[in-house]
Amino acid sequence: MTTSIKTAVLPIAGIGTRFLPATKAVPKEMLPIVDRPLIQYAIDEAVEAGINNFVFVVGDHNQGILETHFGTVKNLEKTLKERGKQNELEIISATSKGINSLDFVTQDEPLGLGHAVWCARDYIKNSPFAVILPDDLVQAKPGCMAQMVDVFNNHGGNIVAVEDVPREQTNKYGILDVSNDDGRIATAKGLVEKPNPADAPSTLSIIGRYILDPEVLKYLELKQKGAGNEIQLTDAIAATINTVEFRGLRFSGRRFDCGSKSGFVLANAAFALARGDIDPDFAQMLKSLVK
Ligand code: G1P
Repeated sequence: MTTSIKTAVLPIAGIGTRFLPATKAVPKEMLPIVDRPLIQYAIDEAVEAGINNFVFVVGDHNQGILETHFGTVKNLEKTLKERGKQNELEIISATSKGINSLDFVTQDEPLGLGHAVWCARDYIKNSPFAVILPDDLVQAKPGCMAQMVDVFNNHGGNIVAVEDVPREQTNKYGILDVSNDDGRIATAKGLVEKPNPADAPSTLSIIGRYILDPEVLKYLELKQKGAGNEIQLTDAIAATINTVEFRGLRFSGRRFDCGSKSGFVLANAAFALARGDIDPDFAQMLKSLVK
């Protein structure tokens, strides 16, 4: 896919407290769905959409392991070569397939998603860019980001992926104040971060995929705090809504909230079911569990 979106920012400085003790030594974006870490799905989805430059916004705890995963592990390569394991050699070299550049910036303080994106400003320069939150895993064909790039190529502007959530969950998401909705693409006159269900202007929620105009950085630069006393990306997009066209895309596919235990386990089952190379009886095994 050819696109003018060349760079994706991945905010991954969080320490994954909900997955302790798994995340005591392993960063949460490295937890596997079947046999691939969450971060790999995010990269592959972006590469499929024509994005080749990546900026990881990290903490102290995870840069090293990410460099290892996307780099060359000489001993492992040597051993696999000696054992004639061609397929496995291809699997490990494919982790960096399609990556043109991979840069790291450190977010020193947990000041919010908006702040994390702002930390990557030097790599964004003046071009529209993508933001991917690897916790939100989307099973879709074509991938969610490719669907968004398609909309961007036709319309430009700010684009987020959206889905309807039960009203009692609006306080977990950025929510659209919808002005027009054709069933696939919604426009909004405002956005609110994590409103109480009673106050939410709709139930249409942002999931962790964004294509953003660099104009949002001007607002983030002000470092104004919003919901949860954090610098919110939602507020920056809302602040540009009259100058940069805004669209929410109801992507086709299924999103798993891998930041929650149930979403993570469910994603493992869903991706295993979609794979042809797991035990052919897997679906049957799963069924016998839920009886
Ligand atoms: C972030 C955003 C929120 C969005 C959500 C999607 O919240 O701030 O607007 O709806 O991701 O997962 P977080 O889950 O980081 O609290």
